[in-house]
Amino acid sequence: MKRVITYGTFDLIHYGHINLLERARRLGDYLIVGLSTNEFNAIKNKKCYFSYEERKRLLEAIRYVDLVIPEEAWEQKASDIKLYQIDTFVIGDDWEGKFDELKSLCEVVYLNRTPEVSTTKIKSELKIF
Ligand code: CTP
Repeated sequence: MKRVITYGTFDLIHYGHINLLERARRLGDYLIVGLSTNEFNAIKNKKCYFSYEERKRLLEAIRYVDLVIPEEAWEQKASDIKLYQIDTFVIGDDWEGKFDELKSLCEVVYLNRTPEVSTTKIKSELKIF
């Protein structure tokens, strides 16, 4: 079984997220999402509309997602890859090149982002934050 992992905040889930998750899942047979916790978002200076538990519940309802785990620190990726016996690490190309050091542990794939949609844009257009 080929196991794939991706990471993100996934606040106010939108079709850009779904496109990413669908393509990530197609790279293997089992997709794990490392979901940024409320505390990790605070470190990243990211303010979420939905809490970790709410974002987790939404992700778990998506057919492409097999398991959601907490993302609590930048450094945990290497240990997650070993712990969950990951074959492929995947993330959107806004992170192109940023995780190349993981190539010694597994395949690293940067997928094209879906243009013109982002949580930041939704929040600013709805004037949420
Ligand atoms: N993503 C994507 N296409 C988009 C938006 C996001 O492929 N239009 C991908 C990101 O590249 C990342 C994952 O979805 O791999 C989670 O991204 P996240 O940062 O949670 O979503 P954004 O909408 O980019 O949120 P923000 O604007 O807060 O950064």
